Amino acid sequence: MNFQFMRIKFVYRLVGLTLIAALIAEAGTTSSYARKNELSDDMPLDSDVFQVPPGYNAPQQVVHITQGDHRGRAVIVSWITPNEPGSNQVSYWDETNLIKRSAEAIVIKYNFYNYTSGYIHHATIEKLKYGTKYYYEVGLDDTKRQFWFITPPKPGPDVPYTFGLIGDLGQTHDSNRTLTHYELNPMKGQALLFVGDLSYADSYPFHDNARWDTWGLFIERNAAYQPWIWTAGNHEIDFVPEQGETKPFKPYIHRFFVPYRASGSTSPLWYSIKRASAYIIVMSSYSAFGKYTPQYKWLTSELEKVNRKVTPWLIVLVHCPMYSSYVHHFMEGETMRVLYEPWFVKYRVDVVFAGHVHAYERSERISNIAFDVVNGKCTPISDESAPVYITIGDGGNQEGLVKKMTQPQPSYSARREASFGHGIFDIKNRTHAYFGWHRNQDGYAVEADSVWLLNRYWKSVKEASVAEL
Ligand SMILES: [Fe+2]
Repeated sequence: MNFQFMRIKFVYRLVGLTLIAALIAEAGTTSSYARKNELSDDMPLDSDVFQVPPGYNAPQQVVHITQGDHRGRAVIVSWITPNEPGSNQVSYWDETNLIKRSAEAIVIKYNFYNYTSGYIHHATIEKLKYGTKYYYEVGLDDTKRQFWFITPPKPGPDVPYTFGLIGDLGQTHDSNRTLTHYELNPMKGQALLFVGDLSYADSYPFHDNARWDTWGLFIERNAAYQPWIWTAGNHEIDFVPEQGETKPFKPYIHRFFVPYRASGSTSPLWYSIKRASAYIIVMSSYSAFGKYTPQYKWLTSELEKVNRKVTPWLIVLVHCPMYSSYVHHFMEGETMRVLYEPWFVKYRVDVVFAGHVHAYERSERISNIAFDVVNGKCTPISDESAPVYITIGDGGNQEGLVKKMTQPQPSYSARREASFGHGIFDIKNRTHAYFGWHRNQDGYAVEADSVWLLNRYWKSVKEASVAEL
C-alpha cells in the first residue's frame, strides 16, 4: 500500500466522519420559536370560567368524570354541592333508550387548615355499554344540571382511539388558552391523559383550597364530557406540617377518585386502565417506589399481565420526566429512571408521558440500562425496544415556562421547545399511532411537532415473522 493511496483513504475517512458527525448533530432540534418572556397571571376570581351555576346548593365542578373500572364500562361522576349534601343520585340514560337509571354517590368533606370543603360526591356508574353516548343529570329540581359522555369501544387491538395530553395546567390565561386549543383541535381527543400538577392551589397563602374549587369550575366545561385520567404531581402533595397538614395528597385524594382497586393497586396514586387499544399505567413520582415498596410490587405484576394482543399500546403516565434536557428539574427523575427503565425496555413500553418541566420535549428511542457501577457504560444509546419519552408539562400555569436548556442538545433529545401547549396521541390500529404537539398560540389545527410511532410489540412480532421466512 503506497503513501498516496493511504492519504486518499484517510481523506475519505475524514469526509465520512464529518458527514456522520453532521448527521448526529442534526438528529435533535431545538426550536427557534421564541415565546414572549412574560409570566402568565392567574385568571381573576370574577372571570367567567369560574362562575358558579345559579340556584341554592346547585351542583358545581361537576366533573371531572373519569374511567370507573379497568376495562372502560364504568364512569366515576364527581361533583360538589356548596351548602348541604343535597341529592347523592346521578341519573343516566343512553341516547337510544330513554329509561333513566340512577347510581348513588358517596359524599365526603375534608378540612385543610382554615378551609372546609363543600360536599364532594363521587358516584360510579357501572355496566355501561361500550361505544355509547350517555346523558347524565345531577342536582335537584331547578338546579338540575345535565351533561353527557361517550363510553370507549370494547378493548381490541385495532380499535382507533384519540387521547389528549395536558400537564401542569393551573388556572392562568394561558391555561385557558391551552384548554380551548385542546377543545377546538380538529383531531378531537376522546379522553384526556393528565400528567399531574392540576390547580397550583398550593402556590397561594396557606395552600388556599378555594383555588382547588376555582380549578374545578374551570375544567368542568371539558371534564364533564370526557374522562380525564389523573396522575398526581408535586403540586398535589400539599404537605404543610407547619399548618398541621401532615397527610400528603389530602385535597387531591378527596377530590379525584380513580379506579385503583380494579387494577389491584392499594393506592389511588398508582393504577392502570384499559381503554380501547391502549393499556395505561399511571405511576406516582412522589410516593415510595424503591424495591419492596407497594408501588414497586404492584408494577412488577402489572407489567407482566398486559396482553398486547388485546391492548397493543402500552403507555406510562408519570409526573416527573425520566429524560429531560432542560436545566430546571434536571435529573429529578433519575432515581426512578435507574430503577424502572430496564422494565420499560423489557416490556416494550411504547411511550412514557411526563409533565413537571414547563416546556415540550420528545426523545428518540433510547435506553441507558447497561451501567453496573464498574463498567462505565452510562450513556443513552439508540434502542428499538425502548419507549419514546415525551414531556408535556406546558399546560400554562402561573410559574411560567422554563427556557434554559442544557447545551449542546443531547443526542437522545429529538425535539424541544419552551412553549405552552397540549398533545394528541391518535391510535390508528395495532401498528401505527400519530403524536402531534400543538402550541396554544397557533391556529387550532397547527402542529409544532409530530411523529409517527410504530408499536413496539407488533413491530417485533412483524420482525420475528419476517426473520422466520
Ligand atoms: Fe411539577
